[in-house]
Amino acid sequence: MADKKIYQASTTAPVNIAVVKYWGKRDPKLNLPTNSSVSVTLSQADLRTHTTAACSSSFGNEDTLLLNSSPQDVTGARTQACFRELRALRSSLEASDSSLPKLSTLPLRIVSENNFPTAAGLASSAAGFAALVRAIANLYELPSSPTDLSRIARQGSGSACRSLFGGYVAWQMGSKADGSDSVAVEVAPASHWPTMRALILVVSAEKKGVSSTSGMQITVATSKLFKHRAEVVVPQHMEMMEKAIKEKDFETFAKVTMMDSNSFHSVCLDTFPPIFYLNDVSRSAIRVVEDINKKAGKIVAAYTFDAGPNAVIYFEEENVEQVAGVLKSALGSLDGWQGRDIKVQDTEGVDA
Ligand code: ADP
Ligand code: DP6
Ligand code: CO
Repeated sequence: MADKKIYQASTTAPVNIAVVKYWGKRDPKLNLPTNSSVSVTLSQADLRTHTTAACSSSFGNEDTLLLNSSPQDVTGARTQACFRELRALRSSLEASDSSLPKLSTLPLRIVSENNFPTAAGLASSAAGFAALVRAIANLYELPSSPTDLSRIARQGSGSACRSLFGGYVAWQMGSKADGSDSVAVEVAPASHWPTMRALILVVSAEKKGVSSTSGMQITVATSKLFKHRAEVVVPQHMEMMEKAIKEKDFETFAKVTMMDSNSFHSVCLDTFPPIFYLNDVSRSAIRVVEDINKKAGKIVAAYTFDAGPNAVIYFEEENVEQVAGVLKSALGSLDGWQGRDIKVQDTEGVDA
């Protein structure tokens, strides 16, 4: 009788919010970016994806993925690339040790849940694909490092490669055509700058009108400003940001964060037809942050927006009242994790 045993493993993964943004692919198939990026991984005590990966000969013939209880299409090239790469690694383990069960040949059943809005510009694809890749790697008992897994997660969603690490993380764009050097690396662990906090302002939990994948494709095809951003602006921001993180220089960290978010949204506006991710509430959050900084006489808060209207505000713990307190009262009542000062994820991005 065939072995009907169910093998399974679970994991959680955090979101990361970029302070120098990834926007644009030089190779859409391998998901290779046109510029490097840096992000901060947020504590998974607040926002997280929980994913279970299972495999069994009793699962029929097809791989399946259930996200927040809805069946997802897994036939897309990105999900397929993740499955293929992870199966190839498992298969070589099986080839070198015949006592291992042949899991690489069994259909996968993935069940995932995000405890925050999906596809709303809060990096669900980052936490989602980091968790998917790590859950399958755990199921297959792969000895891969976070950087190895980041190379695979990148093919699911670019930003996902950065969620394999906690703390401050860079995605190096790399220069090789096969993408083998387009991976995430740690810039500094969370413990290096333990006073950093983030506040999330959920302006809208709705699915964004233009997905990141298609938005950046239209930008690359139509925006003339985009080339300047990728070639001139981002390399400068990368250098300043990595230095600011190493020196715990909040004012520079904040200034570059805000300027890079503005540069990214300018490029969206320069896309044809234009992409509007920010709305009136987003813009009023920018004004409130400006007022807070003016009142403090120095930069104590930094706003940044991904591909959606929701704001993430970075600040240091000592300024929590000045920043989170003022934003909450200015923008109406916020509850749950939206109004909390969220810490930086301190260990590896996902559970090993
Ligand atoms: P976001 O701003 O939330 O990252 P994207 O447009 O980049 O939005 O990506 C959203 C897509 O990412 C979803 O439609 C889904 O295909 C995928 N995704 C989100 N969460 C998960 C998850 N937990 N597991 C697998 N895929 C996910
Ligand atoms: C604005 O990683 O979601 O959040 O690679 O097509 O899945 P795909 O795109 P995705 O893009 C993220 C864009 C961003 C900036 C960032 O996270 O760096
Ligand atoms: Co995304």
